[in-house]
Amino acid sequence: MPLSQDLREEILKQKREKRAIILSHNYQREEVQDIADFVGDSLELSRTAAAIDCEVIVFCGVNFMAESASILSPKKTVLLPELDANCPMADMIEVSSTRKVWKTFPGYETQPVFVFPHEFSLRDIKGKYPDVPVVAYVNTTADVKAESDICCTSANVVKVIESLPDERVICVPDRNLSMWAQKNTEKKVIAWDGFCHVHDRVTKEDVAKARRDHPGAPLMAHPECRPEVLELADHVTSTSGMLRFAHASPAQEFIVGTEMGLMHRLKKENPGKAFYPLRKDMICPNMKKTTLKSVLSALNEMRNVIKVSEEVRIPAKRALDRMLAIS
Ligand code: 13P
Ligand code: SF4
Repeated sequence: MPLSQDLREEILKQKREKRAIILSHNYQREEVQDIADFVGDSLELSRTAAAIDCEVIVFCGVNFMAESASILSPKKTVLLPELDANCPMADMIEVSSTRKVWKTFPGYETQPVFVFPHEFSLRDIKGKYPDVPVVAYVNTTADVKAESDICCTSANVVKVIESLPDERVICVPDRNLSMWAQKNTEKKVIAWDGFCHVHDRVTKEDVAKARRDHPGAPLMAHPECRPEVLELADHVTSTSGMLRFAHASPAQEFIVGTEMGLMHRLKKENPGKAFYPLRKDMICPNMKKTTLKSVLSALNEMRNVIKVSEEVRIPAKRALDRMLAIS
């Protein structure tokens, strides 16, 4: 029997014994997605974590996702198979800090969004705009969520902003998601200067090349891409939004502007259609840390438990619950 088959069987056995459920983000390795009970985007995974009946959740994704599951379901044991699977963008904002490490990005001041430089903390920006609510992308740490009014994901950012009565909102930490939201709302979005290194690297030239290589194929792009890239896309949406679009579209070929892990589901669920990456190096190293081996050892040893203090969990849950109530 091949090694991976042994691993799969052992994982399934452990899962039954421990009443565990495996959740996987759409960017995980193929074999990890294939062993999961549920694969989805950040919004779907939050919803599932809140609703599912089990004792243990093995979260195959990055740290903030497992934290959200633990915030929403504190009675369940949430395991993150690789403890150092983090999201660098989530680490680009802190609740309070005196560090001055990140630079501003010249040129973005001319966008319709005002981008705050990174030498400030979330508390600084809240101090400057005390009456403006904070919308925290789920790609944030639990303590940033706890300081925020409501969370959002790439699937619902505009809906979340529109749900607030205020004319201005602070949106952290992804500047590209915020600028995309600004294009789709009348409200004023005050954005943070964070970014996802996987999506932010895509250029207009990449789009031009992909269009030349695959003429006529619609381009789906994640809102974490730069505004000039999104401007050229046919459909801007979350990872699961791309799956729905590819399924419903009569097109036979698609250019995919997000992390490579999504290609697995796109191909598997649309066998007659062809999918081409916008760039082949759109790979999130942190999402790829989780392996079948690490899933098994987390389950075996019940290790890498993600737990958030009640002091942080309760306000963070309020922000997540407000988002789930309107999505
Ligand atoms: P989705 O919300 O589309 O799943 O994206 C999460 C993410 O980390 C994007 O880089
Ligand atoms: Fe974070 Fe980007 Fe990786 Fe998503 S793809 S987890 S935003 S670094």
